[in-house]
Amino acid sequence: MRSFIFHNRFLAALLLPLSTLIFSCTGPVPMVVNNLDRQVDSVLSLMTLDEKIGQMTLYTSDMDQTGAFVRKEYEEDIKYGRVGSIFNAYGADYTRKLQDLAIKNTRLRIPLLFGYDVIHGHRTIFPVPLAEASSWDMKSIEHAARIAAIEASAEGLHWTFAPMCDIARDPRWGRIVEGSGEDPYLGSEIARARVRGFQGNSLGEVNTVVACVKHYAAYGAAQAGRDYHTTDMSQRLLREVYLPPYKAAIDEGALTVMSSFNDLDGIPATANKFLLSDVLRGEWGFDGFVVTDYNSIGELINHGVAADQAEAAAISLEAGIDMDMQAGIYPATLSNLVDKQLVSEELINIAVRRILKVKFQLGLFEDPYKYCSTEREKTLLMTPGHQEAARDMARKSFVLLKNENQLLPLSKNLKRIAVVGPLADSRQDLIGSWSAAGDWSKAVTLLEGVRAAVPQAQVQYVKGCEITGTSTDNIKQAVEVAKSADVVILAVGEAAWMSGEAASRSDIGLPGVQQTLVEAVYKTGKPVVVVLMNGRPLTIKWIDSHIPAILETWFAGTQAGNAIADVLFGDYNPSGKLPVTFPDNLGQVPVYYSMRNTGRPFEAANKYTSKYLDGPNEPLYVFGYGLSYTKFEYSPLVLDKNILTENDTISISVTVKNTGELAGEEVVQLYVHDKVASVAPPVKTLKGFKKIRIDAGEEKIVQFVLTPADLAFYRADMTYGWEKGAFRIDVGTNSRDVVSAEFNLQ
Ligand code: NOJ
Repeated sequence: MRSFIFHNRFLAALLLPLSTLIFSCTGPVPMVVNNLDRQVDSVLSLMTLDEKIGQMTLYTSDMDQTGAFVRKEYEEDIKYGRVGSIFNAYGADYTRKLQDLAIKNTRLRIPLLFGYDVIHGHRTIFPVPLAEASSWDMKSIEHAARIAAIEASAEGLHWTFAPMCDIARDPRWGRIVEGSGEDPYLGSEIARARVRGFQGNSLGEVNTVVACVKHYAAYGAAQAGRDYHTTDMSQRLLREVYLPPYKAAIDEGALTVMSSFNDLDGIPATANKFLLSDVLRGEWGFDGFVVTDYNSIGELINHGVAADQAEAAAISLEAGIDMDMQAGIYPATLSNLVDKQLVSEELINIAVRRILKVKFQLGLFEDPYKYCSTEREKTLLMTPGHQEAARDMARKSFVLLKNENQLLPLSKNLKRIAVVGPLADSRQDLIGSWSAAGDWSKAVTLLEGVRAAVPQAQVQYVKGCEITGTSTDNIKQAVEVAKSADVVILAVGEAAWMSGEAASRSDIGLPGVQQTLVEAVYKTGKPVVVVLMNGRPLTIKWIDSHIPAILETWFAGTQAGNAIADVLFGDYNPSGKLPVTFPDNLGQVPVYYSMRNTGRPFEAANKYTSKYLDGPNEPLYVFGYGLSYTKFEYSPLVLDKNILTENDTISISVTVKNTGELAGEEVVQLYVHDKVASVAPPVKTLKGFKKIRIDAGEEKIVQFVLTPADLAFYRADMTYGWEKGAFRIDVGTNSRDVVSAEFNLQ
């Protein structure tokens, strides 16, 4: 039993007979209520149909725009109770002003919920999600989400449209940058970490925000990597690969879900009863609310599954959509549909109950202004602690792709350094897409990071060329500067706008004339370090075969330049591992580590095997790949038994030795292969990983414990479980270089 202060005296008075204990007083009315559902029902019982539909409506403010159109009348809508939640509005004063409109003008004074895309930081911008995933460091990812929540909630926000849990195996798809890559196990762990970070220990605390699991479902499997495109896949693939991260986030307690834009097997996700009702609520027991994506209900007409707005509303509601984002179709149609008995008011009640419940959980009925504190806003944004965390997260996100002859780390005694490339001093690109209220002008560029790290060196900068465009005029100047330097740091890649929503590419090579720049600088014969900044795997085969050192830094956020310098000059030993495969060439896409073997696995001497005539099957960099400045050696695996029985566990241990001269962190990865099963098994499936730090010359024993449940899959008859027989375990530094052992499940 919990006692609390009811902010809303009017509502409190109406609820009087329903409460179990009321104190009469002249201030706020204290009440004791013993049950959340009962509180929700109390409010619901007072609401008119129009007030209910208002709660099911979400509009954007015009403070930020994240979709095709804005409805200018949103403030009027708030006053008249036609909208229950607002997104793209933040700031203690502004959210207070909007909250005031609701509290002071509407009959029941139900508080607004404020949402925003706080994806990888709010003011302090952390690396883009794909970069954070490269850290394989759950504590740091959780911490980054925690800081994002602290900053966002200090600016009046209650709700973030994250984590994005879409598995993506096609680097053409621009939104691959917003996710955790290609693997369901890693993706699930990260989804959980982010939910923990956003929602904290209790949503009642003022520094937590409600998470929204998106984009449900299988949005990342857009055909040909083109955003918003159809997805079509077997139930097995859906359940085995695409659904687990959404489910993991929900199991971790995420209270809201966003339906995706795509259709799945011809049925748009927003009208998809199978996804929204059967799986999400039926199988997974989700009891929060589901919001659409931007105008998704309206888009059902374009999809061709609804003739008009009324039909679009009816099929969305019946499928399980509780809240309409931005389409304005629920408010335009639902009342009439109920009057005509074309939809049942009970469905509306169910949706409103779910929405009100979240508002109660946030404590907004106790104090609708609890998140609007200018004091917190003043003290909690962009703090030195947040900057330090962003820097640390960034350097953990970098993946060392190549380091021939230990060119890296660079000596801090270098005299002349050339910093070249269109991304070397580009501030705007560093914070990537979906950077919330992040201010790109506060980001630290690579050039600034290098200058700060080696103040005594002569650092010369030439842009060389633009990120896009055809002019090669400035390449000559870059070559001249490179010639006079001891080393060249060459920053190339994509602009921030080239990944994210509506940013698919059909060519994933370096844009513009950057390749020409790289080749010209390479020809100087100077040692060259390529620093990549990009939001997706790129096809960089030429760079890999010519340039001695390559550091993948993605879009690393506010502290990018400092973090990159930390790694380039050896203050931090890189430990990131790719969460997604880098193709050798675009023709291989989709290419991922957990493919099936086929009936004709490749053999060089046999024409009739699975291959390309004009290129390899192997990608350029495999999943899980990433180098360190030190070397790790893996001992043979030690299993505590060769036979695992159904109620038992098996322990797998490996000794990892740091044989180099620097302390370093290693991500020890464990993969399983079912040797014979009723469904052709993937060649490898990630089932565990541990990130450990080992001092130079030291070794550590890493132990994994598996149960039969870890060996389960969707069998031929689509039941989920394991099958007895032989299994191979691979443990290693990436998905290719492993030590193996076998056991039997009996
Ligand atoms: C569209 C995007 O698909 C989604 O990720 C985002 O949360 C909403 N717009 C709101 O900005």
